[in-house]
Amino acid sequence: MTYFKKILRYALPYKMYGILNIFFNILYSLFSALSMLALLPMLKVLFNKDEDKFYPNPIYNGISSAKEYFQDSLNCYVVESIKQEGHIQILTYMIILIISLFMLKNFFNYLAMFFMTYLRNGVLKDLRNDVYQKTIELPLSYFSEKRKGDIIARIGTDVLEIQYSFLSVLEMLVREPLTILFTLIAMIFLSIDLTIFVFIFIPISGFLISLVGKKLKRQSENVQKEQGTFLSILDETLSGLRVIKGFNAEAFFQNKFEDSTNRFYKFLVNLINRKNLASPMSEFLGICVIAVLLWYGGNLVFVKKVLEPETFIIYIGLAYNILTPAKAISKASYSVKKGNAAAERVLELLEMESPLKDKPTAEEKNSFDQAITLENISFKYENDYVLKNFTLAIPKGKTVALVGQSGSGKSTIANLLTRFYDVNEGAIKIDGIDIKNIKKHSLRNLMGLVTQDSILFNDTIANNIKLGKQEATYEEVLEASKVANAFEFIKEQPEGFDTNIGDGGGKLSGGQKQRLSIARAVLKDPPIMILDEATSALDTESEKLVQIALENMTKNRTSVVIAHRLSTIQNADVIVVMQKGKIVEQGTHQELIDNKGTYYKLVEMQSFD
Ligand SMILES: Nc1ncnc2c1ncn2[C@@H]1O[C@H](COP(=O)(O)OP(=O)(O)OP(=O)(O)O)[C@@H](O)[C@H]1O
Ligand SMILES: [Mg+2]
Repeated sequence: MTYFKKILRYALPYKMYGILNIFFNILYSLFSALSMLALLPMLKVLFNKDEDKFYPNPIYNGISSAKEYFQDSLNCYVVESIKQEGHIQILTYMIILIISLFMLKNFFNYLAMFFMTYLRNGVLKDLRNDVYQKTIELPLSYFSEKRKGDIIARIGTDVLEIQYSFLSVLEMLVREPLTILFTLIAMIFLSIDLTIFVFIFIPISGFLISLVGKKLKRQSENVQKEQGTFLSILDETLSGLRVIKGFNAEAFFQNKFEDSTNRFYKFLVNLINRKNLASPMSEFLGICVIAVLLWYGGNLVFVKKVLEPETFIIYIGLAYNILTPAKAISKASYSVKKGNAAAERVLELLEMESPLKDKPTAEEKNSFDQAITLENISFKYENDYVLKNFTLAIPKGKTVALVGQSGSGKSTIANLLTRFYDVNEGAIKIDGIDIKNIKKHSLRNLMGLVTQDSILFNDTIANNIKLGKQEATYEEVLEASKVANAFEFIKEQPEGFDTNIGDGGGKLSGGQKQRLSIARAVLKDPPIMILDEATSALDTESEKLVQIALENMTKNRTSVVIAHRLSTIQNADVIVVMQKGKIVEQGTHQELIDNKGTYYKLVEMQSFD
């Protein structure tokens, strides 16, 4: 129930629609009962045998005898009218009345649904937007644990399930109980004895039906989770198609996918079969109630003669009328259970607190004046420390290069500087201020980032470059692409800057992708550049192009360059040589060569290549 309440908060902005829905639902349920009752005079006309019997004009004696008064008035009216205008004429009137009542009932029903549609889909939209916002906000560490497909399932099908099951309950919350209430009033009005029977049977059937719904939430959870799994497989397949085909691994992935869809099939069949049990069961229970009514009511008509046959027919009609909303309510209880599973998954994501959230005291920092210092930091992703007691100063205007074997923690330093992760011990400071006390947005405004794997989006070249500065003019984009040495290939594209580069930049070569990501950082023009050079081997020509781009961009800036090709960083002010998360050497290129240490060996190895 708490999930339901939390989701309900999303309906608040749409409460006007909710109110209109309630209003028309009240009218609907009222007319629902009225339209049944209106059949009564019609039947009286049809069954009126004793035309000569005289009905005196009734006298109203207060609420206690309202029923007698109503019945007498009706009898009197029907008999008198028939005498004056004839059967057919009265029949026509009655039919017009019935048609009008049914028309109004359905019209109000439509209006109620009309307004509810805005509310339901508004909630769907807002929930999706919030989940998306949360997805962008959550730290990277969250996504190395969760599968991508799981997130896609939550934002796609889970939210839809909430819209479908929870909010349909919202609709029933007013309409069905009211319909039952009004119908019951009409039933009591017609016969109290019979109604007591109904009262006894409804709770019994309700209990029986609720037995079926017990396991529903668990089953729903399974279905939802499995959906996440196979979306994940699909996602990995699509991004890894080249490898899957190249390694003839189609059958392996096909099996993996079929395992998942098989489980999904089993879960879903179970769920749906259980759910489908609800409707026939409640219908059958309902008809049992009717059967008892028929027997008991028949007695009242034939034996005790306290009930008129036409009244009895209408009564049965009303009793059957109650079944539909009663069925709907029992169905709603399933819906809530199914919705709960989905809501739990969506809310889990929405309520996830980001550990990297800005502190309330965090300050804006709009300039970089002195230095970045890493003061005795230690960091681990999971269990093992990747960096241990690491200390480094990056003065303004200098280029610091990080080199070292694969896995030594170079990219990790970039992750920490941009605060994708927080250090476990020690502190990273900019101009003496701990970056934990700087608003993330303003911190990242100071930095330009070129990641190791060039991350590009399925959009035009211009839009990919403009990512960090949407308002950039064409001239600025052109300038940045020249600095990044990218203009050469951009101008050869069929539509220049407006060429779409495909999913993840798939239509470009490795070197071209890299230069585009450099252009993107250059256009942002931040005081601090963080460059994680791609490991992918480039041919000598594109390596030269990328190298020139790097040199252009680090000019007159403070930069941290993570390099794999040592030729790129010979001019760096400081070269830091790392090994297993520690600094083993640092100095200029010449100093380190003279030292004949680790760096010297690395350079020697690369010259052999
Ligand atoms: N998201 C992560 N979760 C857990 N461990 C990680 C994660 N990213 C990196 N690591 C581990 O941290 C260590 C350092 O990785 P890092 O990416 O910093 O290496 P690197 O120096 O950049 O290597 P390369 O030259 O190959 O790019 C590695 O042992 C790696 O297994
Ligand atoms: Mg790396």
